Amino acid sequence: MTFEKNILCIGAGYVGGPTMAMIGAKCPQYKVTVVDIDMNKIAAWKSDSLPIYEPGLSELVKTTRDRNLFFSTDIEAGIREANIIFVSVNTPTKTFGQGAGKAADLQYWEKTARQILANSKDSKIIVEKSTLPVRTAKAMERILNGNSEKIHFEVVSNPEFLAEGSAIKDLENPDRVLIGSSETEKGIRARKEIVDIYANWVAREKIIESNVWSSELSKLTANAFLAQRVSSINSLSALCEKTEADIDEVAHAVGMESRIGPRFLKASVGFGGSCFKKDILNLVYICQSYGLNEVADYWESVVKINEWQEKRFIQNMLINMFNTVAGKRIALFGFAFKADTGDTRESPALYITRGLLEERALVVISDPEALGNAKRDLKDFNENLIFTEDPYEAARESHAVAVLTEWRQFKELDYTRILNSMCQPAFIFDGRNILDHRRLFEMGFNVFAIGKAPLKHF
Ligand SMILES: NC(=O)c1ccc[n+]([C@@H]2O[C@H](COP(=O)([O-])OP(=O)(O)OC[C@H]3O[C@@H](n4cnc5c(N)ncnc54)[C@H](O)[C@@H]3O)[C@@H](O)[C@H]2O)c1
Repeated sequence: MTFEKNILCIGAGYVGGPTMAMIGAKCPQYKVTVVDIDMNKIAAWKSDSLPIYEPGLSELVKTTRDRNLFFSTDIEAGIREANIIFVSVNTPTKTFGQGAGKAADLQYWEKTARQILANSKDSKIIVEKSTLPVRTAKAMERILNGNSEKIHFEVVSNPEFLAEGSAIKDLENPDRVLIGSSETEKGIRARKEIVDIYANWVAREKIIESNVWSSELSKLTANAFLAQRVSSINSLSALCEKTEADIDEVAHAVGMESRIGPRFLKASVGFGGSCFKKDILNLVYICQSYGLNEVADYWESVVKINEWQEKRFIQNMLINMFNTVAGKRIALFGFAFKADTGDTRESPALYITRGLLEERALVVISDPEALGNAKRDLKDFNENLIFTEDPYEAARESHAVAVLTEWRQFKELDYTRILNSMCQPAFIFDGRNILDHRRLFEMGFNVFAIGKAPLKHF
């Protein structure tokens, strides 16, 4: 079968896999190949047990795989065949050298660019799908177009705005798709080719075009604004706990205002995920490198409030459990950084677990999708750590339950059964404000929620 276009995606992770599955499903006329250096990941994408959990993903992959969606480890062949290459490799925070702890580590990205260059025999469009510092496209064009042959690479920015847990819905019906390119004739032509892909299923008015720098910076800005809302409400949750104001009531009242809006105003133990912290720190680093220190400090405070909120959660547990958790069994309900994903990157649960282990608690972790990742994350801790899928088993004989992920399942548990199986007095620390606190208190629990006066029996 001949296809209209050959699309390649380098990087088969949380972004590359679902995004290409959607393009494959919506555009049967294109051949879509996803490659990765990780052989195990590619084998999993080819199997019935996909490497990531996302509602609706496995159904989507089943309809397209081996029809026009292919997974492979042969990156070089993929590059040779492709007309358009999406690059969706990871861009973590640099851990070494200049900018360590803040700047984006672009080594994977640059390696990919060089590999594209080495294996290309004709001109191609290179799409930045990874989140990158503003002005990366310039560096990429220099690397790619520094060759002596007569082929040209046009770098286009098409940042991904999907949210894990709702990736398939977000991809199918995005708020917007952003495509940025240089404003030269070649740039505009390349931009149009990418627009044409999305126009197969996204309404044209939702596909927005911009210059390449605006596109790169918009992604960092969107994540910074989202995280800023969480830190804003979380900072005020601390004030609520001191004043008997209720953060959910405050958020509701504030969010009803149309200029503010209700979303992303849920107080919690803190935000996690691979992107918010890394992208904000990247923004901070870029601002610093342009001497914009006030702007850098402003955005850095969003990350600092988040770290403080996690720390406060542990302190709250300690203070209320008579200043010690040593030897006490504590059940953690949830380890994923949010519901409907198995992703644990930068999850507040990681920080809370480490903190509780340092205090010598016995930590029992329960999560419906994230136990595999949790075990990997905590492989250096051999003692005082138990994993179980069954939340009732986790809570049995524990002194406290801490809710760290807003999985729907945790709302629907039989808390009378849980209370009766726990050591008394029994504590619940609801880090996601998803439980019925008054009812739990009346049952006999001592209840500590975020941004609410504690409900305790002593
Ligand atoms: N996860 C999200 O929700 C999300 C949302 C929007 C944007 N992003 C951005 O998208 C990018 C990818 O994120 P992710 O969560 O999918 O990361 P990920 O770690 O899940 O996936 C990246 C993949 O790239 C592969 N890879 C690295 N170097 C490679 C190379 N040289 N050749 C082939 N494969 C290579 C890795 O093996 C990995 O499987 C990041 O820049 C991230 O900031 C992520």
